[in-house]
Amino acid sequence: MVQVLYNHNSLRREKLLGGETEANIITVHHLDINLLQLRRFLKTGGPMATFKILQYPDPKLRRKGHHVTEIDARISKIIDDMFETHYSTKNCAALAATQLDMPDPPHITVIDFSDQKNSPLCLVNGEIIASAGEYELEEGCMSIAGAYEKVKRAEKITVSAMDKHGKPFTFEADGFMAKCVQHELDHLDGKVFLDHLSALKRGRIDKRITKMLRQSARST
Ligand code: NI
Repeated sequence: MVQVLYNHNSLRREKLLGGETEANIITVHHLDINLLQLRRFLKTGGPMATFKILQYPDPKLRRKGHHVTEIDARISKIIDDMFETHYSTKNCAALAATQLDMPDPPHITVIDFSDQKNSPLCLVNGEIIASAGEYELEEGCMSIAGAYEKVKRAEKITVSAMDKHGKPFTFEADGFMAKCVQHELDHLDGKVFLDHLSALKRGRIDKRITKMLRQSARST
């Protein structure tokens, strides 16, 4: 049985009550209920979990995603929790496993930038198999606070991947989706979008981030 608890805190799991198991309890803010999360929780019956999003210049952001050979229970859980992290994070368009604090991140990205947050796209072992044109759009990253810069990307791409059930598929993308996929596949290759900038721009941003980190370390 699923018991929905309402309280005045933001979305978080309530500590276990006597006799209850964690899977039976979900806590939601009474004003900020995310129906998609709730629906998914009711469907899977499992507890929700989120990953910590690593922040630049964390060296873990340089890890590469491991090739996934089989969608087993561990990988399925990672995909669910990645979507959970995505939908719990404001202004999030996509996340790659390598930017999340997990051991041995697999080659997985989750994408959904729809207004209603109802168009989830999961790419397992995603790969760009064809690309054309050049396009420059501003990019930001959940792992790099406050930095938004234009990055040159391919305008159109053809992507090959497996879905969350292990079924292979290919699709073509352009515009924001093409940018998004290229940005995420970079993450899974240990790269961040700052790596595409000129040394001058990069230096300026690095300096600002170092200063910001120093200030926040001092204030805590
Ligand atoms: Ni990013």
